[in-house]
Amino acid sequence: MSGDLFPAVLLRREDITPEVTLFEFGPELGRTLPSFTAGSHIRVEVADGLIRSYSLNNDEAEKNRYIIAVKREENGRGGSLGMHRNLRPGARVHISSPQNFMPVVPAERYLLIAGGIGITPIISILRKLQREGHTNWHLIYLVRNHSQAAYLSELMSEELRDRVTIHASDDAGYFDFWPYVQKQAAAHLYYCGPKSMMDALYALTIHWPRSHIHYEEFSGGTLSKAGNLPFRVRRAGSDEVIEIPAEESVVEVFRRLGYKPKSSCETGTCRTCIVGLIAGKADHRDLCLSTAERSHCFAPCVSRALGEELTLEI
Ligand code: FES
Repeated sequence: MSGDLFPAVLLRREDITPEVTLFEFGPELGRTLPSFTAGSHIRVEVADGLIRSYSLNNDEAEKNRYIIAVKREENGRGGSLGMHRNLRPGARVHISSPQNFMPVVPAERYLLIAGGIGITPIISILRKLQREGHTNWHLIYLVRNHSQAAYLSELMSEELRDRVTIHASDDAGYFDFWPYVQKQAAAHLYYCGPKSMMDALYALTIHWPRSHIHYEEFSGGTLSKAGNLPFRVRRAGSDEVIEIPAEESVVEVFRRLGYKPKSSCETGTCRTCIVGLIAGKADHRDLCLSTAERSHCFAPCVSRALGEELTLEI
């Protein structure tokens, strides 16, 4: 278990679409949960040593409960299936304190864009805006079809539906963001969704001030492994040498071998997996280590070796 996790209790689970299940956590008896702000996420130990990040869906004004929504990914990296299969109400689950990479800042107007399960941080932001009486917001919610749209009935309520655009690609195909982002007009943009949507929005808003753009990376995709070469990892302080094939990361190999490497995002952004680099030339592929740290640290979820062998504190 990662050192900064603490125990909480799963109070409730509920299927809100055929693929998405909501999980509600509360504190253990006699304890409280740290407060959070809209846009936050927590890390959850979904199985022994397997940690995943999930956005909080509920309103920041709510005390002592965290609600996350998890899409079942049959071909994912095991996190969502672990949640869906293993967690039942009453379970003791280790979670982290909330962290926020896209806090809501004061603005005249808010443009919110969600793709699929990327609705989860956006719905928390929307709930905050509603509670505080902000009415100058617009949500664009891209889904494959209406049956897979989490929170659809809430978003289609009389109170909200005038400010919500739902686009189902099965019926309507491609969505053109350009008319919505062409003029920045003092808006702040918050978005979360699959990589293709994130990349498109980044490119389409290149004329916006960067301070008006807020997003959360959605790490459901898989990293390209094309061009990877195999290498060896020597465990510091032991004679153990482990082969890392081209098609697996160091974290994946160690997990397969029965070790319990710490990991969360597995995209090189969260720092959960960082280990000491003792010897060898690393091919650093993370987005979280500083230049100085790269001389002695290594992200085994994504990084590889430039030579044949690395010695790691793992
Ligand atoms: S697991 Fe997040 S940086 Fe490696």
